[in-house]
Amino acid sequence: MAERRKILVTSALPYANGPIHFGHIVGGYLPADIFVRFHRLKGSDVVYICGTDEHGVAITIAARKAGVLPQVLVDKYHRIIKDTFDRMQIRFDNFSRTSRPLNHELSQQFFLNLLEAGHISLKTERQLYDPVERMFLADRYVLGTCPRCGHEEARGDECPKCGAWLDALELVHPRSAVSGAAPEVRESRNWYLKLQDFQPRLEAWIRGKTGWKDNVLRFVEAMFQTGLRERCITRDLDWGVKVPLPDAAGKVLYVWFDAPIGYISSTIEWARARGQPDAWQDYWLNPDCRLVHFLGKDNIPFHCVVFPAMLLGQPEPYILPDNVPANEFYNLQ
Ligand code: 2FM
Ligand code: ZN
Repeated sequence: MAERRKILVTSALPYANGPIHFGHIVGGYLPADIFVRFHRLKGSDVVYICGTDEHGVAITIAARKAGVLPQVLVDKYHRIIKDTFDRMQIRFDNFSRTSRPLNHELSQQFFLNLLEAGHISLKTERQLYDPVERMFLADRYVLGTCPRCGHEEARGDECPKCGAWLDALELVHPRSAVSGAAPEVRESRNWYLKLQDFQPRLEAWIRGKTGWKDNVLRFVEAMFQTGLRERCITRDLDWGVKVPLPDAAGKVLYVWFDAPIGYISSTIEWARARGQPDAWQDYWLNPDCRLVHFLGKDNIPFHCVVFPAMLLGQPEPYILPDNVPANEFYNLQ
């Protein structure tokens, strides 16, 4: 009998910084759950993976506002989010957490592999700094006007309106989300992922795809036209996955580095729980397995460019997504 078709389905890992809402369910979870049930009915061997995204500034800002430690906040919202999915009957095969030691170890290994292969550089560059709070302002710690679409609430790493993946220094009229102060520019030493090393392979891969949504293809094509370049993948924070190098005190990996690795560590957890610890490889390292990422449109650059580049830079033959169905936002207004 022919082996059943393997399909690995993921839904974007929600930040454990608050309860999930209607937009989450209709955008990234209900469509995936329907897809999973449909392909199971058709006889495919489907594994459906998710978990909570527990690092980064989305978490530290929410914890600061709530007056609790990040660990307390993520423990609370992991429980609440999991409970919501259970009540909505969204049935994952495994629901993990990016703060688990397995995800830390795997993320550090990914980083070291990329470093060893020459795809990561160390540079001292200008970063925004809050003179009142005396801290570097990464990601959501800084707000400003998006240089691409003019949205006035863009964040230091992404614009929630047009989905652009930004560098905080590109923001027009930046302001600290912590103190409201105008940031200064100071130098900091960080590690950068050389995305340009992967552009030819990423272009060849995506251009060979059929059946992808136009919004996704257009977005990625625009990134290729601009040209991929080095992006900073470490942060001056104490919450997150530590940079696994001796001279990296006070540095953690950028949340968008360890979060998608959470898909893999969650699959490894699933395999271990079934008593078949290597079974995850039948999906992630199997060229016949179909990998499908469901997500909201703001996650496109990370799933179509950054994470695939990180996978291509590993010594193991990880598969790349077969499709990335990204949904638009559902605006209640
Ligand atoms: O945009 C978000 O809500 C992110 N937490 C999604 C992460 S998806 C994955 F890569 F982990
Ligand atoms: Zn924008």
